[in-house]
Amino acid sequence: MTKRLTTTAGAPIADNQNSLTAGPRGPVLLEDYQLLEKLAHQNRERIPERVVHAKGWGAYGTFTVTNDITKYTRASIFAEVGKKTELVARFSTVAGELGAADHERDVRGFSVKFYTDEGNWDVVGNNTPVFFVRDAYKFPDFIHTQKRHPKTNLRSATAMWDFWSLSPEAIHQVMILMSDRGLPQTPMHMNGYGSHTYSFWNKDGERFWVKFHFKTLQGHAHYTNREAEEIIGRTREGYQEALFGAIEKGDFPKWKLCVQIMPELDAEKTPYNPFDLTKIWPHSDYPLIEVGIMELNRNPENYFAEIEQAAFSPSNKVPGVGFSPDKMLQARVFSYADAHRYRLGTHYEALPVNAPRCPVHHYHKDGNMNFFGQRTGHLDAYYEPNSFADSAKEDPSVAEPPLRISGDAARYNHREGNDDYSQPRALHDKVMNEEQRQRLYQNIAEAMQGVPDEIIERMLGHYALVTPVFADGVRAARATLNGSLAAAE
Ligand code: NDP
Ligand code: HEM
Repeated sequence: MTKRLTTTAGAPIADNQNSLTAGPRGPVLLEDYQLLEKLAHQNRERIPERVVHAKGWGAYGTFTVTNDITKYTRASIFAEVGKKTELVARFSTVAGELGAADHERDVRGFSVKFYTDEGNWDVVGNNTPVFFVRDAYKFPDFIHTQKRHPKTNLRSATAMWDFWSLSPEAIHQVMILMSDRGLPQTPMHMNGYGSHTYSFWNKDGERFWVKFHFKTLQGHAHYTNREAEEIIGRTREGYQEALFGAIEKGDFPKWKLCVQIMPELDAEKTPYNPFDLTKIWPHSDYPLIEVGIMELNRNPENYFAEIEQAAFSPSNKVPGVGFSPDKMLQARVFSYADAHRYRLGTHYEALPVNAPRCPVHHYHKDGNMNFFGQRTGHLDAYYEPNSFADSAKEDPSVAEPPLRISGDAARYNHREGNDDYSQPRALHDKVMNEEQRQRLYQNIAEAMQGVPDEIIERMLGHYALVTPVFADGVRAARATLNGSLAAAE
C-alpha cells in the first residue's frame, strides 16, 4: 500500500513537486516551510569526516568461539566453545579523505565492535602488527605528514620521508606499507592486528599480556602499483564493491581470531619492550593460539547511519580485558571517545550501531539529543550514592586485578637503547622472498620520487643498518627508475 508522505512532524503533505509562489512565476513565499526545511536539512547532511581513517567499508557479522581460553580471561564473549556474539566491523584507509580511491597504497584500519553480554568490546587495529611511532606525542606530527601541505594542498612525499628518516622507529611499519601488504586487493584479503599489547585477566585475578591477530581465511592477495592505477582508473570504490558484493551474494568473508599470550612477569625478561608498538612478539616465542572465527554476513541497510556513525574506541573494554603500559594505547584510550563527542555528539553510544546489546545503566544526564531519558534503573535516582534499592549500583566482582607500576616521572627518551633494526631485518631476510624484496625496493623508489637527496640518503642510512642488501636494493631500483624516466623524456 502506498504510504502517505508527511512532514517530519507527521502531518500529510499535499505537494512535493512545486514550491509555494505568488503567481506562477514567483517569487517564493516565506511561509513555504517545507521548502525551507528541505534546504535546511540538506545543509546539515554532512558531519565532520574522521580526522584519520575517513574512507571506510563495513558490515555486521558473528564471532564464534572455537577454542577454550578461559584460563586466560574471564571475558564473557569467550565463556564457552560455540558461543556466538554479534559484531560490526569497519575497514578503512588512513590518509585519504572520505572520497579517496580505495586502492591506494596505505595502511588499512581493521575495527571490530563486539556486542558482548557484558558491554561493547572494541578492537581498533590495523592490517599491520606495528605502527609508525611509539609515543603518542608524535602522532599528530606524523599524521600532518600524511595529510595535505598547507600551501600546495597536495600530499607531500618530502614531508613523509623527512619525518620517517628522522624517526627510526618508523622503519618497520614503513617497510610493511611499501611491501605487498601495503595494497591488499580487498578488505577480505588482509589480516587484522590489535597491534598493541593488551591484557587478559581470569576469574582468579591472574593477568596475562595479549596480542590479537585476525588471520584472513580468504588468503592474502595484493595488487602492484600498476595494477592499482588501472583499477582506480575504472573505479574508486573497489573495496566497497568487493565487500558489499560478496556479502550480498552470500559469500561471507571469515577471519580466524588468534591470540599470543605472555605471562605477566615475562614482560621484564624479553629482549625488546613488549609494550612498544613498533615491535612484534616473535611467533617462535609466543605462538598463535586459535580462539574463534569472525564471519561478516550482513550488509548495513543505511551506510551513513550504521558505518559513518559507527564509533569505535580502544577505551571500550569489558571485564576480563584490560590495557597495558603501552604509551600509544594510553593516548588512544582518551582520543577516540573525544573524537566521537566532537564528530557525533554527546550521546553517540546510544545510536543504534553503537548501542550495547546488553542492559545499560548509568548516571550521565541530559545533553543534546538525549532521546532515551535516564538509565539509572529508578525514576528518583538521578544521583549516586542513593538509597533506592533497585537503582544501578557498582559491582566490585568485575574489578580488574591491581597492576604494579613504578618509576620517576620524566620525559624518557624513547629512542635510547631501542633496537629498531632487528625485526625489520627478520622481515627482510627471513619472511620475504626475493620477488617480494624486489617489489619492496621498487615501491620505495617510486614513493621517494621528488624527495631531496639528503632526506633519501638519511633514509638509506637506516636501511643499511637493517641490512646493506636493503639499501643497495633501493639504490638500484632508484637508478633503474630514474633511467627509465630520463629515457621517456
Ligand atoms: P614468522 O615467520 O613466524 O611470521 C612471519 C609473519 O609475517 C607472518 O605472520 C606473516 O603473516 C607475516 N608477513 C608475511 N609477509 C609480510 C609482509 N610483507 N609484511 C608484514 N607481514 C608479513 O616470523 P616472526 O614471528 O619471527 O616475525 C618475523 C618478522 O615477521 C617480524 O619481525 C615482523 O616484521 C613480521 N611479522 C611478525 C608478526 C608477529 O606477530 N610475530 C606479524 C606480522 C609480521 P601470515 O602468516 O598471515 O602470512
Ligand atoms: C581512527 C587517533 C593510533 C587505528 C582514529 C581517529 C582518531 C585516532 C582521532 C578518528 C576516530 C573517529 O572519528 O571515529 C589516534 C591516535 C593514535 C592512533 C591519537 C596514537 C596515539 C592508531 C593505531 C591504530 C589506529 C596505533 C591501529 C593499531 C585506527 C582505526 C581508526 C582510527 C582503525 C578508524 C576507526 C573506524 O573504523 O571508525 N584514530 N589513532 N590508530 N584509528 Fe587511530
